Amino acid sequence: MKLAVSGKGGVGKTTFASLLIRTLSDQGKKVLAIDADPDANLAAGLGIPDADRIVPIAEMKDLICERTGAQPGTVGGYFKLNPQVDDLPDALSAKLDNIKFMRLGGVKKGGSGCICPESTLLRALVMHIVLQRDEVVVMDMEAGIEHLGRATAKAVDKLIVVVEPGRRSIDTAEHIRQLASEINLHHIAIVGNKIRNADDEAFLKTHLSDFEFLGFLPQDDRLIEADLKGVSPYDVESPAKTRVGEMVGRL
Ligand SMILES: Nc1ncnc2c1ncn2[C@@H]1O[C@H](COP(=O)(O)OP(=O)(O)OP(=O)(O)O)[C@@H](O)[C@H]1O
Ligand SMILES: [Mg+2]
Repeated sequence: MKLAVSGKGGVGKTTFASLLIRTLSDQGKKVLAIDADPDANLAAGLGIPDADRIVPIAEMKDLICERTGAQPGTVGGYFKLNPQVDDLPDALSAKLDNIKFMRLGGVKKGGSGCICPESTLLRALVMHIVLQRDEVVVMDMEAGIEHLGRATAKAVDKLIVVVEPGRRSIDTAEHIRQLASEINLHHIAIVGNKIRNADDEAFLKTHLSDFEFLGFLPQDDRLIEADLKGVSPYDVESPAKTRVGEMVGRL
């Protein structure tokens, strides 16, 4: 099963992805957790020790050079467009329970469709992970679906868009669906987060009436406190945990 998580900034993508990944791991599934958001904190959300010391793949200059044959930061020139990456998930991931965690990091953009050694390596890696690994894959992404291309999109079982009750998050969901349809990715499901009451849930159902809903998570101050303390949302008592468990059953 290959899952990608997207949504507007701050809606709770990382919180949801963390709960999802830890739930799957506790169920005995092997999970490859990919932090594809350059402003990343999925490792902390998962409760991986020394999360902030994990070096993103995009910053591993020697690795990029070794695999692509070119110095990162260079544009133009010759480098391998199909670098070897199949050993990287096992070699470079941080481990916790049944989870292997990788942080991709960001590539400085050199215009649209940037072709540089680091973006080429990341693209090859994501493609390998989505097409060839047999673990459950969960990717925490930014507000777009930057790392997915046509080839990868085919193998994504579900693009989960996290929304909160609010106009902008709904607009972002529509935008993400548009981007997804451009690469032929049509398996999209919504998770409504930060739900205060029945009205919030109804608001989302009304405004996203033609989307599939995977479920809803309550607004819960304990999740904010966990975030402030650097504790995984999975390691605090919260009904959100139960809700995510139910969603896994539906996937
Ligand atoms: N159900 C919830 N109830 C209360 N607070 C929540 C809930 N879900 C997430 N939060 C809080 O909202 C903030 C943003 O959450 P999170 O980092 O998961 O969002 P994000 O979409 O990953 O953000 P970013 O776009 O910055 O990556 C955090 O402080 C988090 O604790
Ligand atoms: Mg996040």
